[in-house]
Amino acid sequence: MKSFYNAEKVSENVWWVGAVDWHVRDFHGYKTQRGTTYNAFLIVDEKITLIDTVKKGFTSEMLERISSIVPLEKIDYIVSNHSEPDHSGALPEAIEKIKPEKVFASSFGAKTLAAYYGIEAEVVPDGSSIDLGKGKLTFVETRMLHWPDSMISYYDLDGVLFSQDAFGMHLAGSKLWADEYPAEVLDYEARKYFCNIINVQSGKVLALLENLPKLNLDIKVVLPDHGPLIRKDFDQMLALYHELATQPPKAGAVVVYATMWQATEMLARAFADGVRSQGMEVKVLDLAVSDRSEVMTEVANAGLVAFGAPTMNNNVFPAMMDTLTYVRGLKPLNKVGFAFGSCGWSGEGAKQITEQLTLMKMEQPLPFIQVKYRPTDAEMKAAFDAGFQLAQIVSEKCNKQ
Ligand code: FEO
Repeated sequence: MKSFYNAEKVSENVWWVGAVDWHVRDFHGYKTQRGTTYNAFLIVDEKITLIDTVKKGFTSEMLERISSIVPLEKIDYIVSNHSEPDHSGALPEAIEKIKPEKVFASSFGAKTLAAYYGIEAEVVPDGSSIDLGKGKLTFVETRMLHWPDSMISYYDLDGVLFSQDAFGMHLAGSKLWADEYPAEVLDYEARKYFCNIINVQSGKVLALLENLPKLNLDIKVVLPDHGPLIRKDFDQMLALYHELATQPPKAGAVVVYATMWQATEMLARAFADGVRSQGMEVKVLDLAVSDRSEVMTEVANAGLVAFGAPTMNNNVFPAMMDTLTYVRGLKPLNKVGFAFGSCGWSGEGAKQITEQLTLMKMEQPLPFIQVKYRPTDAEMKAAFDAGFQLAQIVSEKCNKQ
């Protein structure tokens, strides 16, 4: 059967040969409500070079796109910028069909590819280049962005930066370029991606942003491994990364809660109204309908973060501990925290939330509020007042910046 998957040209000598995953909704715990793409690229120079591959299950789509412009056996090199399986899953079959002269990876990448697939890759040291004939490909290690093996590569002939996970987003679509999508969709998905994948390495992001201009690269297009490609306004993406990695105090609030019989929900709503009465924007997320990646996105956007849950079987309600564990791992900074909850008798829930916020080094100017069975009017007022006071504290912190 003739292939109907085609490569798409992205620069004079570079083609997109990736795959669109329209339906993925759970990406190792990250809710990808708009799907994603696994971008792979082919450089057609004297040495034909495949940059990254796709997730297993999309291998034939990638191979067919490549075959639409060159026979597979004409490919000389494969470069693995990042060995997480969403970019390397297709590698074993691709190597078997292509039989490349060499597979290149960073030192950690070579170890990872050997561990996952028994693949022997040649190590390209940080700052080194390989000659492709008319142009050359230069490698810059970006350890922990997103894994220890991660590196970016730059093809000088076309001014192309292959940025692997960096500057990407989970967004499936039929358009190749970011400037073909609504700006608000790009902004939300880029923020969500950063907060849930890269936030934990904010320091390394700032180091990369400082180092990138010193490399004197004439970048014309940026090709990440997920989502739309960037040919315009890359400086806006750099500015967004700088803002997110700096994690300044933010004049906004998020209230995250779980509830069994609505007592915690009542406190959440009273607290949110207290925040609102200070004129501060507040979002309220119920864990019954909001997943942890949505929570983390809003936590990153807020200076005031309140978490509330009931006690269940002498512990905090499980969905809340799941969310707090996830948020804590991503290391949000500059937050004022608040814990609240409800119980019938033993009452460990709000205390356990407080302990988690302390582990995250959040300031907690007010003690937690916990009510029995159902909040009284006085307890509802206390929750409202807590929101009011904490919003004021956060506003003052932001004004002092
Ligand atoms: Fe898209 Fe870290 O893999």
